[in-house]
Amino acid sequence: MMRILHVSCSPRGQAAESYKLSQKVIGFLLKAEPSAVLVNRAIGGGAMPHIDANYALAQHSSTAQLSQEGSVSRSEELIQELESSDVVVIGTPMHNLTIPSALKAWIDHVVRARRTFNVTAEGKVGALRDRPVFVAVASGGRFSGERARQPDFLTPYLRTILGTIGLKDLNFFSVQGTGLGHDAVADARTKTDQALREYFSPAGR
Ligand SMILES: Cc1cc2nc3c(=O)[nH]c(=O)nc-3n(C[C@H](O)[C@H](O)[C@H](O)COP(=O)(O)O)c2cc1C
Repeated sequence: MMRILHVSCSPRGQAAESYKLSQKVIGFLLKAEPSAVLVNRAIGGGAMPHIDANYALAQHSSTAQLSQEGSVSRSEELIQELESSDVVVIGTPMHNLTIPSALKAWIDHVVRARRTFNVTAEGKVGALRDRPVFVAVASGGRFSGERARQPDFLTPYLRTILGTIGLKDLNFFSVQGTGLGHDAVADARTKTDQALREYFSPAGR
């Protein structure tokens, strides 16, 4: 049975634009696979603690004696949740040109040396099986296209860090310009809906 992991990162919870966009992605996935199981992991607004000292030691040394409590056990739980998913949907706002700190805290738990990646002479090699990852982004301004007036550290960062653990099949959708007024948001949503339809149900398929 297909398992969808939904990681939602906005402090605004279900009212968030990124949450609504990720729900649309999930809607398409469920339409194609109605028996899929949905696992919700809401991490916005302080729900995801930062890693602790013991965990930091574990990352720093392969020989350290480790307690399995605290962040190490939370990390294990989050990694198993990720491993057991067939599709991942991340709903996230852009905060200060990149991912919000809540998503960074989740990444700090799941990108773990000798568990989800290994360090080799050639660099870091991912240990997770690849699977589709959909990233639903909301931003107050625009960060792509000709009218973008800010750099985008979110997209390249997520591609690189999730690629590090073996997740390379990333698909981005976004509603950009939520702070630019009602018409701009309506226009952005319409364009994104169109992009979703083209991706999930292209003509002739
Ligand atoms: C702390 C913070 C930082 C933000 N930084 C940016 C930014 O760098 N670029 C941008 O376009 N919007 C920025 N925004 C605006 C949000 O991306 C925008 O309100 C978005 O729609 C929020 O999505 P959500 O409803 O899913 O939380 C920021 C918002 C907050 C709260």
